[in-house]
Amino acid sequence: MKQSIGIDGPAGAGKSTIAKRIAAILGIPYLDTGAMYRGVAVAAKRHGVGFTDEETIAKLVGEIDLRVRYTESGEQHILVDGADVTGELRTEEISQGASLVSRVPAVRDRMTELQREVAHEQRVIMDGRDICTNVLPDTPYKFFVTASAEERANRRYKQLLESGQSAEYDTILHDIIRRDKQDSERAYKPLYCGADTKLIDTTDMTIEEAVNAILSEV
Ligand code: DC
Repeated sequence: MKQSIGIDGPAGAGKSTIAKRIAAILGIPYLDTGAMYRGVAVAAKRHGVGFTDEETIAKLVGEIDLRVRYTESGEQHILVDGADVTGELRTEEISQGASLVSRVPAVRDRMTELQREVAHEQRVIMDGRDICTNVLPDTPYKFFVTASAEERANRRYKQLLESGQSAEYDTILHDIIRRDKQDSERAYKPLYCGADTKLIDTTDMTIEEAVNAILSEV
């Protein structure tokens, strides 16, 4: 296995922005593993399965064909049974759904398997919740990127307003806190920062500073 880079952390900490920049600088692929869990949530929705129906979700993940594809410009797409569902991944319903279906051990084990296959073939940078603790425990390049819940909510709020969408700060903060709790308190492979993982708190950092903090280590 090549020495890939793992980045974990809570929702909205800037992991994907940071990982994409590092991928471009190092010329390696970036795998957004959250998008894969979102793909499972979309599949559940399409099949009319409730996000908390763990038994049916476990069965479903064994039956669907979930694939990650890259466009020529390097954009990541998620395919479920041949259908490109990328455009459906970024709603609040699917954010919450992904957090719920990711509690199911069969879902986590399948996604872990797929992610390891990618890292087996090439050096990659991936971000998620369990990359350093579970998917790539042997890589020396492990980072936990975080920021206060208020700062993460504030960034998301500004992002939505800038893209012309309506947003309510309190609702965003509430959703972030709920997802943090679900992701870090689930029984199977929860989100946490391992002892061998470098903690990067971006609350008072720019994206550039966080990118450089990681690049100086790799
Ligand atoms: O990174 P994201 O917000 O797109 O992830 C969506 C959800 O997927 C997240 O709330 C928890 C789950 N997830 C996970 O459990 N493990 C990962 N490696 C990535 C995401």
